[in-house]
Amino acid sequence: MTNVADKTTKTLEQLGVHSPGDLAALFAELKSGFDNEVAQASTPDAWKELRDRWLGRKRGLMTYAKDHWLLSASAALKPEAGKQLNALRAHVEAALEERRKQLESGATGAAADALDLTLPGLQHRAGVRHILTQTKEEICGIFARLGFSTVEGPEVETDYYNFEALNIPEHHPARDMWDTLYLDHTAGALPDPEASGRGKKSDPNSLLLLRTHTSPMQIRVMEKQPPPVRIVVPGKVYRHDNPDASHSFMFHQVEGLAVDRDITFCDLKGVFDFFLREFFGPKTRTRFVPSYFPFTEPSADIHASCHVCSGSGCRVCKFTGWIEMCGAGMVHPAVYDYVGYNAAEVSGFAFGMGLDRFAMLKYGIDDIQLFFQNDVRFLHQFRR
Ligand code: PHE
Repeated sequence: MTNVADKTTKTLEQLGVHSPGDLAALFAELKSGFDNEVAQASTPDAWKELRDRWLGRKRGLMTYAKDHWLLSASAALKPEAGKQLNALRAHVEAALEERRKQLESGATGAAADALDLTLPGLQHRAGVRHILTQTKEEICGIFARLGFSTVEGPEVETDYYNFEALNIPEHHPARDMWDTLYLDHTAGALPDPEASGRGKKSDPNSLLLLRTHTSPMQIRVMEKQPPPVRIVVPGKVYRHDNPDASHSFMFHQVEGLAVDRDITFCDLKGVFDFFLREFFGPKTRTRFVPSYFPFTEPSADIHASCHVCSGSGCRVCKFTGWIEMCGAGMVHPAVYDYVGYNAAEVSGFAFGMGLDRFAMLKYGIDDIQLFFQNDVRFLHQFRR
């Protein structure tokens, strides 16, 4: 910089500038010298010094440039020198003003680039697992402690697994217990023909459907392995239902199945006493009410004492003191025939519960639709 500043004390003649091109280069050099200096002026004092150095009326560099480069310029260079000088002065004035504003607002390069370690960091809100996922894991976790392993199965099923092998033959009125959603495809469209099984199972013309319950997995698991069996099966199920606060065309179940020698209804009762106390709290009582399912005999609905009023009656239990939690029963011998188990040797129990309902009761959620609307204000409440 000193070089170019020194040059302002010399005439164009002395500097050997004879053409408009040389003149432009000379001004460009001066401009870049100024630009360097202005960027380095980081305090108000430095700024004032800079302003005086460049714009000072008597000794400012712009005045020198005018005196030595413009006034003594040859007639040929004068118009161009005037033009260049005016442009440079405008630039210097604007840049100085800009710098003054930056210094006042504290946004100078130096301050803006500085790393302020005292600033609070940007917080990213961590996600939460969906409350149904949490509930599923809690339920399967309790059963895991009783020796049940968790398996999952297909949501698109064949007629055979969803109904037939569960002792619900075609045209049997028990099919009306489930409002089935059929697909436009037949079993022959399955990518793996083996998946639809053998014999009547693999009828390529049978319609595919969205499973109405998780019970088909009882069949699929028993087909694949000899007894003993102890499984829980969480998953989505589908029914032709109109959506309202307690119905959805898609919801979730957890199926359970235990088959071995000498399993009795007492085992079912013991397992459910334990499970419901673990899930709803140690004061929970259970009761079994006779019911009907084609694939269990005898069948029962399992009720839990209302965890809100402890059985004295409230809105949640519709003033009965009890809440229906689950369908269950001893596996029907006809089901063993379908999977090739010897009904004379083995016995077992099965149950199926609505996962959404368990979550609703436990967390006081009064509308099943909330689970599926994915409003984060709802979902984030269940951070644990
Ligand atoms: N699958 C039955 C339903 O969806 C529930 C159930 C499962 C009942 C297992 C008995 C045994 O209603």
